[in-house]
Amino acid sequence: MAATVPLSLRDRLRTQLADLKMPGALEALDEILRQVDGGQLAAGEAIHAVLHSQIRLRNQRRLQTAMRSARLPAVKTLSDFDFTFQPTIKREQLDSLHTLSFLDRKENVVFLGPPGVGKTHLAISLAIAAAEYGRRVYYATLADLITSLEEAQQAGHLTRRLRTLVFPSLMVIDEIGYLPISRTGAQLFFQLMSRRYEHASTVLTSNKGFEEWGEVFGDETMAAALIDRLLHHCHIVNIRGNSYRMRQHRDLALRRSDPDPEPARRPRRQER
Ligand SMILES: Nc1ncnc2c1ncn2[C@@H]1O[C@H](COP(=O)(O)OP(=O)(O)OP(=O)(O)O)[C@@H](O)[C@H]1O
Ligand SMILES: [Mg+2]
Repeated sequence: MAATVPLSLRDRLRTQLADLKMPGALEALDEILRQVDGGQLAAGEAIHAVLHSQIRLRNQRRLQTAMRSARLPAVKTLSDFDFTFQPTIKREQLDSLHTLSFLDRKENVVFLGPPGVGKTHLAISLAIAAAEYGRRVYYATLADLITSLEEAQQAGHLTRRLRTLVFPSLMVIDEIGYLPISRTGAQLFFQLMSRRYEHASTVLTSNKGFEEWGEVFGDETMAAALIDRLLHHCHIVNIRGNSYRMRQHRDLALRRSDPDPEPARRPRRQER
């Protein structure tokens, strides 16, 4: 039977955690000490549990801040991602990207693929991991980003806006290829990407292959220069597969066209 933690020590621990401004650890302390008293946790495990509670709270707060300031449209994480549905994605590559070492090397990530295959999901999950890690992140669709650059240019503070947008360690630029871009818009985007080149990481998603980017940006030469910078230090995740959004519709269609004359006797198709 483990010795119980004396009251005076409990009080000192509470004071220390409050002094260090560790509310997550403070809140978890009583329950952890109860487990220590009951012999369920060893001393080392208890220290780990106290620190883990604080780290969890810190990460939640970082995420909340990032959700506001980075304008992330949703919470999507790697653990929510069903890799069995998208077998062309190499799990090891995504696990490795989520260690975030690419941020220190200022490398980029490009997710390519048709609609609904998880490009935005995975881009956001990288942004969330980076935010929890304490990095500044920013999310925008290409169309919104260009609008904000055009507005800044018209208001005469483009340089300031560009400087602000170079700052985030990770910027997600989503949906390249869906909406047409003006020539000026494309030039402004090029300026931003040139400034971020070798300075901070950018995660891009596109439904168009690189060979079509000339058309997307309305300028082959500029698109080539953009791709050149982008790919210099870059991880490409090329997803070839079906839309997750259409998954249920496809399951229904498959059932309807099922040739089995006695479907009621068959075992139920396994649901995901
Ligand atoms: N493999 C998956 N596992 C779990 N959820 C998924 C998976 N793939 C996609 N989703 C979900 O399906 C929806 C569509 O995915 P997402 O928005 O990432 O697609 P996309 O490739 O960005 O498509 P689009 O090109 O149309 O923007 C999202 O809600 C996403 O969370
Ligand atoms: Mg998307």
